[in-house]
Amino acid sequence: MKEHLKPEFVNVPEALIEALVTSLKKTLVPELKTDAYSLNVLRSLKIDERVVVDLVLPSFGLRSEKNIALAVKKALVSHIANADLIDLNIYSDVKPSATQSIKTKDIADVRNIILVASGKGGVGKSTVASNLSVAMASLGLRVGLLDADVYGPSIPVMFGLLGDAEVKGFTKEDSKITYMIPPIKYDVSLMSIGFLIDSDAPMIWRGPMIASASMQMFHNVFWGQLDYLIVDLPPGTGDIQLTIAQKINVSGAIIVSTPQDVALKDVVRAKKMFDKVNIPNIGLIENMSYFICDSCDKRHEIFSSQGAKRQAEILDLPILGELPLISSIRQGSDNGIPFLASPEDHPIKKHFIDIAHDVVAKVTSMAINDETRDNVSLNQIKNPKNSEIPEKKRRLPLI
Ligand SMILES: Nc1ncnc2c1ncn2[C@@H]1O[C@H](COP(=O)(O)OP(=O)(O)OP(=O)(O)O)[C@@H](O)[C@H]1O
Ligand SMILES: [Mg+2]
Repeated sequence: MKEHLKPEFVNVPEALIEALVTSLKKTLVPELKTDAYSLNVLRSLKIDERVVVDLVLPSFGLRSEKNIALAVKKALVSHIANADLIDLNIYSDVKPSATQSIKTKDIADVRNIILVASGKGGVGKSTVASNLSVAMASLGLRVGLLDADVYGPSIPVMFGLLGDAEVKGFTKEDSKITYMIPPIKYDVSLMSIGFLIDSDAPMIWRGPMIASASMQMFHNVFWGQLDYLIVDLPPGTGDIQLTIAQKINVSGAIIVSTPQDVALKDVVRAKKMFDKVNIPNIGLIENMSYFICDSCDKRHEIFSSQGAKRQAEILDLPILGELPLISSIRQGSDNGIPFLASPEDHPIKKHFIDIAHDVVAKVTSMAINDETRDNVSLNQIKNPKNSEIPEKKRRLPLI
């Protein structure tokens, strides 16, 4: 059990402290199998002319986020008559998971790297990676998306930046190394080889050049402080995937599959590759799981149903979600506006948000779970300093 951090209290009556502690202890955070008090979310409470409360969550995007804020608000309003005087600041301090925490110098400010992989081509990795990135950014997280498909980059098209992205350089004074600055769209920092080369030119690079190009996207890009870097991998289990898996410390991998049998054999291959290089499997997403017809609104299971689910159970892979085949997703990718970034009000958007919540919960659990950390020698764990609490600050309206 971790030591409990004592919050900083200034001019706070004992009764209010007690009310806060009781309220936080009663607020369960089921996705992390704990309660809000054990998470040390309350960092300071200062009562002066105004009442300033600072909460630090282990991540934005937890399903319990609202409940935690509500628990604090309820305790506060029971003791402070004028709610207008209360400033509730909510920060998040995303920690790297244990496997991620053995950092590579250049990308030390990226807290968690998540690989999106598949054994087979065309199952929707890039679509999932794009929409998941936008979904996670919409939850308040700082997100980047690295297109590691050096042969067939999709991200420039999916984000409407084909031939349009301006990649500026930035030279670090201390090292004199020049980094590429990733363009930002829909709140996601993006990098793809498609931003740098003529998209119509055939790729004639050989294995080692390809592997080195994909590594440069990690090391020669100024990613800055990110909570999550999502990596859209090429299909299969080839050179690029292996190089990344072996050379970059990552928090985990998401495998995308369609329900067809042929795709499922590839799920086994992809999972085995990650097992071999000790990359935790965050879970499986079954894409194109079923088809919802625009005119009849009925669910059609054209690729057979639940196949990926069955396979996932056999392989002990958690299922992160099932995504239907819908024309809005394809149109979004083709038109350069990821489905999640489009203004359309569509019920399937919630599926992506749910997956984003689950990914956050799983990675946060890994990060705060002492048992996982025990596998890594302590001096290899990078302890983010207090000053590293992200700048992103949100104020929730009081009830
Ligand atoms: N759920 C979905 N509904 C409708 N269309 C989809 C869906 N998922 C993917 N697509 C479409 O399927 C095609 C292939 O998707 P995508 O490019 O994301 O696959 P991929 O696995 O990244 O392919 P590759 O292996 O070539 O990198 C795209 O045209 C995309 O718009
Ligand atoms: Mg792709």
